[in-house]
Amino acid sequence: MAPLIVGLGYDWAIEQTAKCIEELVELTRPDAGAATTGKQAGFDFSGYTPPPMTLTCKSGDALDHIADGSIDCVVMDPPYYDNVMYAELSDFFYVWLKRTAGHVYPELFLRPLTDKENEAVANPAKFKGEKGARALAGRDYQERMARIFSECRRVLKADGIMTLMFTHKATGAWDALTTGLMQAGFTIDASWPINTEAEGSLHIKEKSAANSTVLLVCRPRIAPDSDDEPQYWEDLEPRVAAAVRQRIGQFQQAGIRGVDLYLSCFGPALEEFSKHWPITRGTPRPQPEARRRRRQAELFEEAWDPYAVTPEDALDAARREVKNWRLDQLAQKRPNAELDPVTAWFVLAWDAFAAPVFPFDEALRLARATGVDLERDIVGRLAAKKNSDLVLWDASTRAAKGSLGPADGSRAMLDAIHHLAHLGRAHNIGTARERMERIGLHDEPKFLSALEAVLEVLPVSTGFGGLDVPEAAAAAAGDFDALEKLRRLALSQQIGEPEQLKMFG
Ligand SMILES: C[S@@+](CC[C@H](N)C(=O)[O-])C[C@H]1O[C@@H](n2cnc3c(N)ncnc32)[C@H](O)[C@@H]1O
Repeated sequence: MAPLIVGLGYDWAIEQTAKCIEELVELTRPDAGAATTGKQAGFDFSGYTPPPMTLTCKSGDALDHIADGSIDCVVMDPPYYDNVMYAELSDFFYVWLKRTAGHVYPELFLRPLTDKENEAVANPAKFKGEKGARALAGRDYQERMARIFSECRRVLKADGIMTLMFTHKATGAWDALTTGLMQAGFTIDASWPINTEAEGSLHIKEKSAANSTVLLVCRPRIAPDSDDEPQYWEDLEPRVAAAVRQRIGQFQQAGIRGVDLYLSCFGPALEEFSKHWPITRGTPRPQPEARRRRRQAELFEEAWDPYAVTPEDALDAARREVKNWRLDQLAQKRPNAELDPVTAWFVLAWDAFAAPVFPFDEALRLARATGVDLERDIVGRLAAKKNSDLVLWDASTRAAKGSLGPADGSRAMLDAIHHLAHLGRAHNIGTARERMERIGLHDEPKFLSALEAVLEVLPVSTGFGGLDVPEAAAAAAGDFDALEKLRRLALSQQIGEPEQLKMFG
């Protein structure tokens, strides 16, 4: 932050702090609410006794001042794995607060610096010099969060509730966290994605819109009392899928889109899953190839147990349901025209992330849901790995790299589509049409379904949408432009106008 910019630096920070304080006062003094709306409003304390309130400051895994089963509600915004090292950052403020607030609350400032030891973060610096410091840090976080959840479970009443905030970017950590939750005796009742994305363009972004936070609603688990509850994943998986199917339409109707739709569906999936925990596989499964390459695997997973079932299995089932749901919506159902896995992956990636750059781990999860091998089928063919991200290529980039694949779509219909987009852009739409008709693609239901879906997810070009396109998405918008022109010229009978164009009026 540039602190001295008028209205944005310190001004902004002070304004936000004041707003927080006002809102906290309003929460504890509803009667003062009206008085506090309006800037700089004063508080009238005369004739009012505030409700008794106790603030304590302790580590979440040692709430020894709170009795068992005495709390109605726990509201937690936990540290998110290795996102922020709060204690390290806090030292800067701590030494100054000690010299101010420390005079009022000396008991909170007994240490020379903040408590790094009990902090629940995955901080490899804590294990410096030890072998596998990253893995040790991951395990430490997981164990600490599990202890914190157990402590919350202990103090909660049987009908109490716990809400938990979670950012989604490294969804692999959901597995670690939800395992901790279930081990501590919680079930997950629901999840709600909250969009915390900065305001920006309508649809197209340079980098994936992965900024939402998810609220998990948890309750103490009531032990299953019937013997016929499914204990095997094979029995439970269809129920998890059904639970997702039941809610997904509702989520979409509520305006939840893209990657948030996947996240919101983790709730019903985990709800069903956590009701039946612990679960095992009836038949062993082979070790997946991707597991060896996954960074998360190094961080979280223990020795391979072919019978083990983890929340990740439920998340996979949820992703598969969302995938099927979205694909059904993106292209009209034509007989025998199901999208091939690579094209389906490409369509779902644009649909979910609305940007050409998104986290590699998320690309892997989508690959698992669509049945493609990311390293073999995608990387080097239609995308590049860049640090922890995946960068999708447009048709011309693929052509320049000689990675367009067979023009008849025999490997993936996306290849055929990209060949035509490239021809349309590099030559003209007439040449693209000629090529399409020569190969016979215009009569091919698989091609038509694929093109229809691609036109629904690629960024709309300025020519058709009238809006500026960010530089990073411009190439993909160029593909949209060429393909939509081709559709209008030669395929308007077979494929209707893309729904997304209706948004632009
Ligand atoms: C995501 S932040 C919460 C931010 C807060 N909601 C806010 O708006 O300021 C996570 C917080 O958990 C705290 N934390 C880390 N380990 C903890 C522990 N063992 N017990 C209690 N709090 C802990 C961190 O210091 C950090 O303030």
